[in-house]
Amino acid sequence: MRKAVCPGSFDPVTNGHLDIIVRASRLFDEVVVAVLINKNKANVFTVDERIELIREVVRDHPNVVVESSHGLLVDFCRARGIQAIVKGLRAVSDFDYELQMAQMNHSLAGVETLFMSTNPQYAFLSSSLVKEVATYGGDVSGLVPDIVLKQLRERLIR
Ligand code: PNS
Repeated sequence: MRKAVCPGSFDPVTNGHLDIIVRASRLFDEVVVAVLINKNKANVFTVDERIELIREVVRDHPNVVVESSHGLLVDFCRARGIQAIVKGLRAVSDFDYELQMAQMNHSLAGVETLFMSTNPQYAFLSSSLVKEVATYGGDVSGLVPDIVLKQLRERLIR
């Protein structure tokens, strides 16, 4: 069985993330969305909330499962027999750090990283920007799934 992981903070999941997850699900038998816990980041949604939101938006994709992870991504991959990490690349600015992580993960555990070009429609999109725009009442519809939009409106709009 060919398995891939789509890792991230997903605070919250955006349509850009979703596009990569769904495209990866067409290439692999199973895609595990790994919600990574980064204690250094201030999050709007708890890990359980983020997982629930992602599960809701991928529910029509039976080969996508959603889990959380506290540690190294390569340990998560080893424990689940995952051969590849799939990441979206939005712009050249993403590349330096992503390449560094890909090379570190390969050197640690031989896990391959596959970069998928982000749909140009979502090239400017990030969870951080979505939260900032939503905080000031800006319109982020079309950038996040409807269920996320609803949650953001309830929590963030001042
Ligand atoms: O959505 P993000 O915050 O840009 O995702 C970054 C993430 C979570 C994929 C990255 O920080 C990660 O893989 N964290 C897990 C811990 C780990 O394995 N660190 C070493 C990376 S080489």
